[in-house]
Amino acid sequence: MKLLVLGATGPTGRHLVDLALRSGDSVTALVRNPAGLGDLADRVTPITADATSPRDVSAAAAGHDAIVSALGRGNSVRADGLFTRASAAAIGAAREAGVSRLVWLSSFGVGHTYDWSSTPQKLIYSTLLRSLYADKAIADESIRSSGLDWTIVLPTRLTHGPAKGTYHADDRLPMKGNPSISRADVAAFMHGAAHGGEWSRRSAVISD
Ligand SMILES: NC(=O)c1ccc[n+]([C@@H]2O[C@H](COP(=O)([O-])OP(=O)(O)OC[C@H]3O[C@@H](n4cnc5c(N)ncnc54)[C@H](OP(=O)(O)O)[C@@H]3O)[C@@H](O)[C@H]2O)c1
Repeated sequence: MKLLVLGATGPTGRHLVDLALRSGDSVTALVRNPAGLGDLADRVTPITADATSPRDVSAAAAGHDAIVSALGRGNSVRADGLFTRASAAAIGAAREAGVSRLVWLSSFGVGHTYDWSSTPQKLIYSTLLRSLYADKAIADESIRSSGLDWTIVLPTRLTHGPAKGTYHADDRLPMKGNPSISRADVAAFMHGAAHGGEWSRRSAVISD
């Protein structure tokens, strides 16, 4: 499969690219700074671009089977419009290039899933993560109504732990406390979703 990966220099994105390459996919990495790819740099096709630029993403998308996003704001708790702008760019690019598959990393607790979250989760989502979640909610809704073959991935708190492969994934999961899942497992789920039809036009809540 030919994947266009957004956010390939981030910790989840790096796992995703590594996994995709090991499974035989070819990967184009749309990155602001190719140096951030480190040892992945010579195994992917890097495109230096901004994921919020419709022109940049459209230029990169042609010829791919899927667009996969692990974009994020790193340690910042301010969205700065990243998710709304990048989702608009990705949707436009996908339509223009005829790439129907879009796998998008969001967060559990965004949009309607806020109501499903535990009391400790709600406290974090409505305060610290408020700006990020508001922007993600708009982005996720625009993807759901895009007409594309989308999957929105909604993980709980992310860790840097190893892939366990024993996580839960469903349209809805019961929540208690503030559960987590490793970025490596999230990447594996996203890669599997891009390759299969099971999560087509569905939002997947995933957690350990
Ligand atoms: N932390 C948690 O507990 C948690 C829980 C659930 C979901 N999530 C979500 O999971 C996602 C991934 O998080 P993460 O910690 O693995 O990654 P991250 O550190 O947020 O990495 C973000 C990636 O996005 C890229 N990026 C940001 N703005 C860009 C732009 N304008 N153009 C191109 N690339 C851009 C960054 O590139 P640069 O290298 O150039 O900065 C980096 O590759 C995020 O959306 C996050 O909100 C996090």
